[in-house]
Amino acid sequence: MKEVRLSLFGFGNVGRALARVLVEKSAVFRERYGLEFKVVSVADSSAVVWLPVGMNLTEALNVKETLGRLSAWTNDYEVFNFSPVEAVREIDADVVIDVTNDKNAHTWHLAALKEGKAVVTSNKPPLAFHYAELIGEAERRNLPYLFEATVMAGTPVIGLLKETLLGDSVEEIEAVLNGTTTYILTMMEEGASFEDALRKAQELGIAERDPSGDILGIDAGYKATILHCLAFGPTTFDEIEVRGIDGISPEDLARAGKAGRTVRLVASIERGSVSVEPKEVPKGSPLAVSSTQNAAVIRTDLLGELVIQGAGAGLKETASGVVSDVIKAALKV
Ligand code: HSE
Repeated sequence: MKEVRLSLFGFGNVGRALARVLVEKSAVFRERYGLEFKVVSVADSSAVVWLPVGMNLTEALNVKETLGRLSAWTNDYEVFNFSPVEAVREIDADVVIDVTNDKNAHTWHLAALKEGKAVVTSNKPPLAFHYAELIGEAERRNLPYLFEATVMAGTPVIGLLKETLLGDSVEEIEAVLNGTTTYILTMMEEGASFEDALRKAQELGIAERDPSGDILGIDAGYKATILHCLAFGPTTFDEIEVRGIDGISPEDLARAGKAGRTVRLVASIERGSVSVEPKEVPKGSPLAVSSTQNAAVIRTDLLGELVIQGAGAGLKETASGVVSDVIKAALKV
């Protein structure tokens, strides 16, 4: 059995969903991969709880869910107020997992790599702004730096582009990459108001903490930037064009509906060009997804058109992508 030490940053909805998967599927991971995960630290915005012999995740979940913050934990565990950079330097771990929304997380991702630790992340801004630097550092050190859950949750579009289509050259990607806006547009098509639809998306935990990131197209823009980096080479969010769904009215949706179309927030990605904007798409198009589904239509020179569609948001759906990466990293470190 290979024991792999994990250091988990972020204990919000996604972090807790991940912790539940690690608890509930530990026997599967032992049997299928010979991996025994030992979570040596868990951090939320209040504290870092660190126990080098490995902590009881079920207890961590109980503390967070009953007391609201990890700093309230008062038994044998050591509770610290390290900054993330201090934490990745101090805490001995094989894999650092970032499921936070920290926009400056690239600093501690780099610190973790420099300490010889693999990094798995669902956090988009580090990649959308610092892809070349992060991937360069990981490659120089021959360490896994994995980010499947940043785009389309656990639906494996990143793995497809990075590990599967190795001989193809991608020519173009068109994709619906934000679950919240699809969910809102779908509910509005069914007669709900924008505000009610957004509230429901927030209740389901699919909207970002600040949902303006979803509505204004920023979240989809981060994801489209990451897909460009994979398919065509590095770019940054600052270089792309983004427009959200804030200007879309029920009348726009009704007009599109009468013409056999639906409105979706569509990312168009070609070499050197990325845009995100609401577009009318035919109801039979692979991009006419509903609810929290995402879809990407990938055109390549050899394969032609390939469609990948699946959950683009959700807690266990995002945990799926993170866990896949944790297993990949664990098998390599
Ligand atoms: N807020 C995001 C979405 C979550 O709605 O798609 C998944 O990245």
